[in-house]
Amino acid sequence: MDRNLALEFVRVTEAAALASARWMGRGDEKAADAAAVDAMRKAFDSVRMDGTVVIGEGERDEAPMLYIGEKVGTKAEDAPPLDIALDPLEGTTICATGGVGAISVIAVAEKGKFLHAPDTYMDKIACGPEARGKIDIDKSATENIHAVAEALRKPVSDLTVVILNRPRHESLIAEARKTGARIHLIGDGDVSAAVAAAWPDSGIDLLIGVGGAPEGVISAAAMQCLGGDFQGRLKFRNEEEKERAKRMGIANPEKKFTMDELATGSVMFIATGVTDGALLKGVRFMADGKAKTHSLVMRSATGTIRTIEAHHDLKRKPKG
Ligand code: FBP
Repeated sequence: MDRNLALEFVRVTEAAALASARWMGRGDEKAADAAAVDAMRKAFDSVRMDGTVVIGEGERDEAPMLYIGEKVGTKAEDAPPLDIALDPLEGTTICATGGVGAISVIAVAEKGKFLHAPDTYMDKIACGPEARGKIDIDKSATENIHAVAEALRKPVSDLTVVILNRPRHESLIAEARKTGARIHLIGDGDVSAAVAAAWPDSGIDLLIGVGGAPEGVISAAAMQCLGGDFQGRLKFRNEEEKERAKRMGIANPEKKFTMDELATGSVMFIATGVTDGALLKGVRFMADGKAKTHSLVMRSATGTIRTIEAHHDLKRKPKG
């Protein structure tokens, strides 16, 4: 995959972040999301690729833009065919409430290298490079916590585990607390949380629990770039969702998916902060129509991680 495309993709997440950041704290999740989707859709038009959205805003009949199967990019004859997994605003509630860690994110792979995950839930586990190969979603939370603590050469009491704060996690949280580990409960945003688990010095060592399946694929792409580890298993709310997964080509919906089965090959992960978070700063609007964005660009081929602070003169940007 052409490495120069990475910079093109940053423009895409920057555009979505700039648009949704205007809606920060205004209590309107739908408007914040729509602004991100619209800006991301327009920004894709100038990227030289023959892209297909494989993880997107939903099925064609329910999402007007960036739906699964939608073609994006210039689609020029010699443009590379790529699969795109995207979330224009990961953390809609975070943005609408002015909370911590909303991001705009895309992951890119060569054709056929992402799992076409349906819009359901996924049981997930994610850790950093030192604990790679040591986690197993089939094992209990207690066993995984102990395995990661051992890999990180620290007592369980010094390990920090991040879990989405949801009623469905009541017994998981109780079990994790019983191990003596430090627990960081988050309201939303488990892509950022997965990245944090593999990010040196983030203060997070392990992510466990159930979140969105599409976010699971995006997180697996991030972990490929960071050299971490990730496993997931789809969690269906009803039979209809299971049937849908089968229609999307998932022969065994009960399967444990390894990181390589979720995202493999040469992968890129690009994210821009919308609101301030642990890894990325949110959008800053400044005097005279200027703005600043903070983005992360990672490639699995080389493991290079770049953070990009961009200064935008919004008065000089072409209007979409
Ligand atoms: P949205 O940006 O789509 O609102 O997703 C936020 C999020 O917290 C994800 O990070 C997470 O995977 C998912 O929602 C969890 O779903 P639920 O809120 O239904 O528990």
